[in-house]
Amino acid sequence: MNELGLIEDGAVAMRGDRIALVGSTREVLAQAEEDAQLIDASGKVVMPGFVDPHTHLVFVGDRAAEFEMRLQGATYLEIMAAGGGIMNSVRAVRSASLEDLVAQSQERLDRMLTHGTTTAEAKTGYGLDTDNELKMLEAIRLLNERHPVDLIPTFLGAHAIPTEYQGRTEEYVNLVIDEMLPLLERKGYAVDGKPLFCDVFCEEGAFSLEQSRRILERAKEMGMGSKIHADEFTSLGGAALAAELEATSADHLACTPEEEMKLLAESGTIAVLLPGTPFGLGEAHYSSARQMIELAVPVALATDLNPGTCYCEAMPFIMALACRQMGMTPAETIVAATINAAHAIAMGHEVGSLEAGKKADVLVLDIPDYRHLVYRFGTNLVDKVIKAGRIRYPVDHDCHPEPSEGSRFHTRKRDSLRSSG
Ligand code: NIG
Ligand code: FE
Repeated sequence: MNELGLIEDGAVAMRGDRIALVGSTREVLAQAEEDAQLIDASGKVVMPGFVDPHTHLVFVGDRAAEFEMRLQGATYLEIMAAGGGIMNSVRAVRSASLEDLVAQSQERLDRMLTHGTTTAEAKTGYGLDTDNELKMLEAIRLLNERHPVDLIPTFLGAHAIPTEYQGRTEEYVNLVIDEMLPLLERKGYAVDGKPLFCDVFCEEGAFSLEQSRRILERAKEMGMGSKIHADEFTSLGGAALAAELEATSADHLACTPEEEMKLLAESGTIAVLLPGTPFGLGEAHYSSARQMIELAVPVALATDLNPGTCYCEAMPFIMALACRQMGMTPAETIVAATINAAHAIAMGHEVGSLEAGKKADVLVLDIPDYRHLVYRFGTNLVDKVIKAGRIRYPVDHDCHPEPSEGSRFHTRKRDSLRSSG
């Protein structure tokens, strides 16, 4: 995880939505087409777009009031037990229109792109009834259609026990297994060859280990990939379950015992660590990333973007936290936020590294050395975001969609961009 494969004075050639060639500037220029558009990144860092493999991007409203309550001493699990927390967002999502859900989420997706994210996972889990879970999947599908960032959907019908099922958790689990999952299969939400995942919040006050197992086993039978929210606050054996089911990822892992880390290493399940969550909750307890890396567990990083524990769209901030609170090196955080993150959503063959044939998802960072990405924090160091071969950030309002013959256009006044028109 500490090896980046740096190329000094390197260049990337792209054709259409793909990377065509990666090498030294001299090699790449020698093979570039005569009329290729050149983007000068001299003195800057060029790297793959970030992959954010764990987000609750789709929601409406906010929970700023709960944040304030927590600052005054209430805990996340107490607020949840009193009917707030996730249920608060569930009520908001249930009463929102599909268009509203898409519009509010799109603003967050724009900010993710601005901070360098080019592919992200997006979970349901604020519907918690059949119609509203489907509405969330539909919102993800529409966002995918309308926005340059690629989204990988995850069904998280087992995110919380909805109020109307209080005390009848087993019945709700049956609803997920007997009604929601089969409906997803029929509706065919796994589109364009992209994976569809199933996730469960395995936690005290949410779903037990046995309930999580039943749901994930059923999803696996249906051909869905598995993920699990495990060991966020208490250790119930969720990481071992993920290893046993050969889940694609196990996420959070803030209090995972060493034996279970070893099981993850054996199964190759990716540990998706979310340091923004303890930070967002103002807690001091972070996952033991160093121990996991030493045990050869593949580690990825994600924002966990959500209105309750971590309202953060920016991967670089999460990486800066991972260095300081989990002892990860700058290089390890880059691997964790790109190629390992891509594997955490089964997209490692398409994105996550600069390699010929992969999607042309490329960042230009306004820094002289990759370590500045995590050494500095709190401002956006992203200079350009290229998604599928097109510059998507900064948005150029002067750039006409079809520049006239021989015209020059600029993404920013100071960057000259040559174009054949
Ligand atoms: O990953 N733990 C469960 N889900 C989210 C929180 C969601 C919420 O509070 O709305 C998490 O931290
Ligand atoms: Fe989460």
